[in-house]
Amino acid sequence: MSHSEAFHRSRRRFLLGSAALGLAGASAWLRPGAAGGHHSDYFQALSTAAAAHNQYRPLMIVDEQRLLANLDTLTDRLAGQYHYRIVAKSLPSVELLQLLMARAGTERLMVFHQPFLTQVAHHIPQADVLLGKPMPVQAARQFYQEFFASGDPRFQPARQLQWLVDSPHRLAQYRQLAEELGQSLRINLEIDIGLHRGGVQDRDQLVQMLRLIEQSPWLSFSGFMGYEAHITQAPGRAEWLRDQAMARYRAFVVQAEQTLGRSIRDLTLNTGGSTTYPLYRDQHRRFVPNELAVGSALVKPTDFDLPTLSDHRPAAFIATPVLKVTDRLAIPGVPGLGQLMAWWNPNRAKALFIYGGHWPATPVSPAGLSTNPLYGRSSNQEMLNGSVGLTLQPDDWVFLRPSQSEQVLLQFNGLARYDAEQRRITGHWSVLG
Ligand SMILES: Cc1ncc(COP(=O)(O)O)c(C=O)c1O
Repeated sequence: MSHSEAFHRSRRRFLLGSAALGLAGASAWLRPGAAGGHHSDYFQALSTAAAAHNQYRPLMIVDEQRLLANLDTLTDRLAGQYHYRIVAKSLPSVELLQLLMARAGTERLMVFHQPFLTQVAHHIPQADVLLGKPMPVQAARQFYQEFFASGDPRFQPARQLQWLVDSPHRLAQYRQLAEELGQSLRINLEIDIGLHRGGVQDRDQLVQMLRLIEQSPWLSFSGFMGYEAHITQAPGRAEWLRDQAMARYRAFVVQAEQTLGRSIRDLTLNTGGSTTYPLYRDQHRRFVPNELAVGSALVKPTDFDLPTLSDHRPAAFIATPVLKVTDRLAIPGVPGLGQLMAWWNPNRAKALFIYGGHWPATPVSPAGLSTNPLYGRSSNQEMLNGSVGLTLQPDDWVFLRPSQSEQVLLQFNGLARYDAEQRRITGHWSVLG
């Protein structure tokens, strides 16, 4: 071998060696570290409470102290500048709504589903209800049929209920319904202030709809609903997007006042949601809406982990018993793959199977738990993976945080009310059916 060949060979070896070393170094750097595997004090207490509750099945636990602390944070921030309307779909339980209404001193609810409306009218007859989406007129008709059939005179739709209407066509349908029923209907108009989810788009449409309402002896105009969830999601500074949305809102209000020849500032001028409500605190009272609708922020599911809600704390957890713990991960049909996954991510060293699963939720305790992307999801016995440090045994509890509340809270046959001071589950809130 010539000198130059030997030189090239050793150089190649050197380069390969360095690449392998680099790869090992990079992988050590990229590989996740093992998480502890124990419950924190908070979840240990919750775990003891769940066990003492003696219902070994998936539970939806709501931490009452955290819930009420979130409510107090919200009412502090509204600082008396806005009325508070509770978004019922995100807190779908009559007892829960009553508790929150009493604490916040509000009777305003936003409802999104006809069967919920029927139940609210019956169980919370003092409620002041604004629909959060335009209902097909047939759903409105069904509400009245059920309401009249119930013979319950306490809730007065003509005074306490605002139907949301988004277009001239739907307005004509509601006018016909009002005539048919011989009932006065209050109409709140959905306006598009930038979310582009429908609603009144422009001046001409607004004027046309207001005239239709004014001409009907059965209809009355009760205000506007302009939702603006885009302002914390769309590109651009939230404050700038808020100001754009509020400028549009104001233009609708000014136009309505011109058309009607009277002030509408005392009507329901609704905006906001959990992600945006903190942006409305306003010393100078620049914004025209007079009420904010918020629900999810009170339990703070993971979709609401946003800077605007950094001082809210999660208050709803799925608790479920562990059924099985295996001390290694095995993927059926691919021997060795489970070990490879565990080598790469030490939080996949163990596999456990839980009671239920496949919820829109993220495991939160013990730390490091996760679903397995290759094994697949199951709503019967879902596999979760954890580190060697995981001390859980069958019949212990794991906790997950729902990503949203409106659907997930309905899936557990009620809510378990947790008192963190007493460290026990003190009751049950039934959910809307
Ligand atoms: C019209 C309207 N207002 C307010 C909200 C805010 O609800 P939450 O606070 O639960 O996000 C929503 C959510 O979908 C909505 O559609």
